[in-house]
Amino acid sequence: MPSGQSAAIAIPNDLESFWLPFTPNRAFKASPRLIARAKGMNYYTPEGRAVLDGTAGLWCTNAGHNRDPIVAAIRAQAAELDYAPAFQFAHPKAFELASRVAALAPGALDYVFFTNSGSEAVDTALKIALAYHNVRGEGARTRLIGRERGYHGVGFGGISVGGIVNNRKFFGTLLAGVDHLPATYDRERQAFSKGEPEWGAHFADALEQIVALHDASTIAAVIVEPMAGSTGVLPAPKGYLQRLRAICDKYGLLLIFDEVITGFGRLGYAFAAERYGVEPDIMTFAKGITSGSVPMGGVIVRKPIYDAFMRGPEHAIELFHGYTYSAHPLACAAALATLDLYREEGLFERARSLEPFWADAAMTLRGLPGVLDIRTVGLTAGIDLASRPDAFGRRAYEAMARAFHDESLLIRTTGDTIALTPPLIVSEQEIGEIFEKVARVIRAVA
Ligand SMILES: Cc1ncc(COP(=O)(O)O)c(C=O)c1O
Repeated sequence: MPSGQSAAIAIPNDLESFWLPFTPNRAFKASPRLIARAKGMNYYTPEGRAVLDGTAGLWCTNAGHNRDPIVAAIRAQAAELDYAPAFQFAHPKAFELASRVAALAPGALDYVFFTNSGSEAVDTALKIALAYHNVRGEGARTRLIGRERGYHGVGFGGISVGGIVNNRKFFGTLLAGVDHLPATYDRERQAFSKGEPEWGAHFADALEQIVALHDASTIAAVIVEPMAGSTGVLPAPKGYLQRLRAICDKYGLLLIFDEVITGFGRLGYAFAAERYGVEPDIMTFAKGITSGSVPMGGVIVRKPIYDAFMRGPEHAIELFHGYTYSAHPLACAAALATLDLYREEGLFERARSLEPFWADAAMTLRGLPGVLDIRTVGLTAGIDLASRPDAFGRRAYEAMARAFHDESLLIRTTGDTIALTPPLIVSEQEIGEIFEKVARVIRAVA
């Protein structure tokens, strides 16, 4: 408050000042969708109307909302230690959490660097990859390879390796020296696949061409989502990730899995790497680590990568990177309580056992007007709607607004695709409810 301003001056709480992210602000402010409270599978509007959460918030509240043990852990932590410097000092729960995350990650993925979001995790992973080659004397390896339709958050690194046009085209030249693999989707060959499509492993072979063009000695890393989420749920074709791994090994490229969405049970395992039996060199996570309750992200690296940095004088910093709030005490406490809940309630296994029921329920939408494709994997579904001839994205936007106002269901849309990703505590009955509501919405916007 500027000095001299009295606390008695009333500041109007209107909708104007808040610039909403990834939202059409004028349309929102004309017809707001406000959420005031949450519990379990439900959100509640300020008037108290329950809204079934079909998207785990933004793919993050995997344990459900406002779970008592997580709330209690955050409360207790806030009273005990609000903040400890993350540089040169640390608090005990940061080590405990790093050990827990490393134990969940497959193979030699044993070292954890904490961030506050998925975007920061991605930029951290890319920087570690570049620095790793540098400290090993291969500093010419500077190229980063992403994928068309990939989403890796909104930092400059993430949008550079990402492949969603609108996230890139307004923001100048981005990072230099980036190339992209093709997307793995072909509707003609893959439509209405449950799980990983049978066709499409060969999309990985494009990496050979990229290596032939630039030479392996200039390439640092390849980054992909094991299941592309934000672009509309594109599961990796069978064998695709294995082929990427083999080509990366052949040429000494680091393979980075961006598991910000797929981590913590979304595909029925702690990480997608486990589902596919493919161990990347570096893995990112965020969202589900705290079930969305406190912002947190991170990067897990294999031991040889960590070891490569542990040289030089012992008083000298090995990696010039970090955030004020890396391993924030509240986030660590929330994450530890969340990991306990996942384990005690067997939520990853629950997602795995619900997957066939979920996929069958999703496919009941096939044949509804304007439905072009349905894809499922884990507890995730993407439903492509035909675009209106003059307005790309409008049909899905209307579907999202109607779902909220008329059906009391939260869904997510991207372009003209509906994405569904409920908390992992969802029941069979709630799955039925979600798809009945979505069916009514699809008919309404036909
Ligand atoms: C695969 C992936 N990477 C990175 C991000 C960015 O995470 P955040 O929004 O926490 O920065 C997301 C967010 O949806 C994501 O899906």
